[in-house]
Amino acid sequence: MLKSHACGALRADHADQEVTLAGWVHRRRDQGGLIFLDLRDRQGIAQLVIDEEQTPDVHLKAKDVRNEWVVQVRGIVRQRPEGMINPNLPTGEVEVEVNQIEILNAAKTPPFYINREEENLDEALRMRYRYLDLRRERMQRNIILRHEVVRYIRSFLSARDFIEIETPFLFKTTPEGARDYLVPSRVHPGRFYALPQSPQQLKQLLMVAGFERYFQIVRCFRDEDQRGDRQPEFTQLDLEMSFVDREDVLDLIEGLMTGIVEDVTDRELVYKPFPRLSLHEALERYGSDKPDLRYDLVAIDVSEIAGRSGFSVFTTNVEQGKPVKAIRVPGPGGWSNSQIKKFHKELEDLTKSVGAKGLAYMAVPEEEDGEVRGPIGKFFPTELKLELFEAVGVQPGDFLVFTSDTREIVYAVVDTLRRHLAVELDLIDPKKVAFVWIINFPLFEWNEDEARWDPSHHLFTAPMREDLALLESEPGKVRGQQYDLACNGYEVAGGSIRIHQRDVQERIFSLIGLEVEDAKQKFGHMLEAFEYGTPPHGGIAPGLDRLVMILAGEPNIREVIAFPKTQQAADLMAGAPSPVLPEQLEELHIALTALDEAPESSA
Ligand code: AMO
Ligand code: AMP
Repeated sequence: MLKSHACGALRADHADQEVTLAGWVHRRRDQGGLIFLDLRDRQGIAQLVIDEEQTPDVHLKAKDVRNEWVVQVRGIVRQRPEGMINPNLPTGEVEVEVNQIEILNAAKTPPFYINREEENLDEALRMRYRYLDLRRERMQRNIILRHEVVRYIRSFLSARDFIEIETPFLFKTTPEGARDYLVPSRVHPGRFYALPQSPQQLKQLLMVAGFERYFQIVRCFRDEDQRGDRQPEFTQLDLEMSFVDREDVLDLIEGLMTGIVEDVTDRELVYKPFPRLSLHEALERYGSDKPDLRYDLVAIDVSEIAGRSGFSVFTTNVEQGKPVKAIRVPGPGGWSNSQIKKFHKELEDLTKSVGAKGLAYMAVPEEEDGEVRGPIGKFFPTELKLELFEAVGVQPGDFLVFTSDTREIVYAVVDTLRRHLAVELDLIDPKKVAFVWIINFPLFEWNEDEARWDPSHHLFTAPMREDLALLESEPGKVRGQQYDLACNGYEVAGGSIRIHQRDVQERIFSLIGLEVEDAKQKFGHMLEAFEYGTPPHGGIAPGLDRLVMILAGEPNIREVIAFPKTQQAADLMAGAPSPVLPEQLEELHIALTALDEAPESSA
């Protein structure tokens, strides 16, 4: 090793020892006769002192050194004098008196600061120089956290008899609702592999193969529109178990997630055990299938009461079966007229952006004898108002907002308001982690455009046994044995108990409009496998990137992936995707019909 100690490892009890350190110059202060260098390696930072009087040749060399140069030094660890101790640095009690320095490599001035956080640092620049971006403390912390989560997962599952098995990337379409990434075959002209959107089929086949408990930390590929919590390639903790029912899978994952949060991070779980909501309850109360339960803000159905008011928007809507929902927002009810006006306008504009026609409100005064303010108050006679307040559990100073429209719009409004208000009113404790299971999904969703039923999860999810009889007669009523795990407003895992009988699988294929021939061509191997003693089985797949993002307190998954893609699914550092040579295309039997004219690095 070019070093005897890690920079970050030095402590007071190393005093008077000779050490050799190597790393990057994090910061330099030239005080004439004395040069101070902060030397950084992965473990931390050590302060080096170079004294012109004692070591003139070292001092001469050190004068040239700049930030991010790679150097090796030898020196004696010294206890810092009393007033010079830096309590913010783990190595802050000592410094190293350098008696030898070697410059291992110089560095150009980086395009952004490595040694401090810059506001509004251009993300494209970070991506282009990702290897420098990753040097920053925040990124090092995220990537190391990710490693620790993965290590915890591996040991947790191994201790519970799971075995890790690799499955191929060059495979056949494994749909999870996105477009496939295709890889052309050179050997088979006109044929393509599909990169799996998940190892779903393969893990089920491993159950047929008798492994009983499988897991894999695995890359999945989905060609879909990118968002902050989506990447074209991302990592799942994929797992599958035989001879289990839903409770076994939920128990296992609950134990795993609890362990990760409590043993790997310094965060706190809000709920133990994790609460469970049916999809319907989640939508009705929080407007979302992945509600953030770190804060309250619940939508309460007040349709019945509002339907008896004199406000025609509400009465007409209620007659048409559209709901009226209220959210109780503690605090703003006591604000001044102008504050309320501004607050309401902001909320109303926000809700209009998701399709609402308006946002009615009532401001409940802080004083017992105060007036309720807001334009719809007059449509609720005193008695009805009291009934309403009782129903929403009103407190002095509450600001009540009301939304009424189709159920879809009401859900979108509630979800949008909750997310906005939580930030605006500072309701989120960043230390908290709130998991919630979402269960009782319908097995199918009606696809308006294609006029057919689509699986709401994926093709292989088993219907609830008691709903099997409705499969052909009332597909919309069939519930799937599916479960999602939501956390802090994100979907972090999805899974289900699977179909393990050929006839049921065939009924699902035909319901979603897959012709027998087509189904055989795409999934014949699954149908065939089901005939060779397939055990009942089920599983789940937490998205590792999303989980680590939440645990790291980051706003998007790019911050916890070493080399992520941009929103346009590009790698700005290497310039991928990139054009290829005509010979390569020829070899692959491919003729192009269109070209991206954008410069390569912004593809
Ligand atoms: P699902 O499609 O719900 O289930 O995916 C499981 C989890 O993977 C994460 N995830 C993503 N993360 C980042 N970028 C993406 N583009 C992306 N897409 C999904 C989410 C999600 O909850 N085979 C099933 C699992 C099963 O049934 O066992 C599956 O893939 O956190
Ligand atoms: P108006 O009578 O149109 O002035 O509306 C009175 C209040 O009701 C305003 O604050 C509107 O934003 C609100 N409002 C209008 N339509 C709706 C609706 N569909 N749901 C909730 N509030 C509404």
